[in-house]
Amino acid sequence: MMTRLAIAGYRSLRDITVTLGPLNVVTGANGSGKSSLYRALKLLADIAQGRIIQSLATEGGLQSTLWAGPEAVSRAMKAATKPVQGLVRKKPVSLKLGFSGTDYGYAIDLGLPRPDSRSKFSSDPEIKVESQWTGERLGRANAFAVRNGPSVRIRSDSGEWRQAYTHLASFDSMMTHCSDPRDAVELLVLRERMRDWRFYDHLRTDRDAPARKPQVGTYTPVLASDGSDLAAAVQTIREIGDAE
Ligand SMILES: Nc1ncnc2c1ncn2[C@@H]1O[C@H](COP(=O)(O)OP(=O)(O)OP(=O)(O)O)[C@@H](O)[C@H]1O
Ligand SMILES: [Mg+2]
Repeated sequence: MMTRLAIAGYRSLRDITVTLGPLNVVTGANGSGKSSLYRALKLLADIAQGRIIQSLATEGGLQSTLWAGPEAVSRAMKAATKPVQGLVRKKPVSLKLGFSGTDYGYAIDLGLPRPDSRSKFSSDPEIKVESQWTGERLGRANAFAVRNGPSVRIRSDSGEWRQAYTHLASFDSMMTHCSDPRDAVELLVLRERMRDWRFYDHLRTDRDAPARKPQVGTYTPVLASDGSDLAAAVQTIREIGDAE
């Protein structure tokens, strides 16, 4: 279960950490950032599916999703004697997403590449840093896999660091490219869990909804996002009971 979610530099979320329970209800005034929180969760899920860069591009690219306000909110801005306006950035742009549960945690840091006038893709975000750790908080002793640019190091059971990759592409995540059942089983377990996350904000119920179309049904412990396997999911609950 996810117990903490951290987001920095995403839309209106400048830097936020939320503690989560088994069921969470997010409320707030219009424009307070509820949808941004939800979308940040979806971006995390996209990492495990290998499509974080495409998703960010669909949202208008890192430049438009990054927090567009000032880097620091001054006392005058808080007192409303000076308007809150975006400024020219001094620090490198960065979008940070992370979460942790009782057993594992993961964080990613995305930024922009150096401008390259020869490439049409020079505004594609780059994955700069990723880390996975065991336990609730990242510390020196419990890091399990660490990516820095193209380099990925993974710690073995005996505690030694092994260089798993030296040239991971900036658009590939270590979650999809370095998880293997022999040397990086923790990465694999976490990735599979993230692949089970579902977002039901587009579950259609209209006449042509996927849930109303005949489907081949197999054992379905997790309902698909579009509800297409609804019948199989209901039957699975009947068979396993709702305790799970
Ligand atoms: N890149 C950005 N930098 C700063 N603020 C942004 C950025 N992109 C969007 N915003 C602002 O973030 C605010 C929060 O938007 P969000 O859609 O998350 O709010 P919400 O709580 O879901 O609102 P509603 O109740 O209307 O659905 C909006 O005021 C929006 O203009
Ligand atoms: Mg909203």
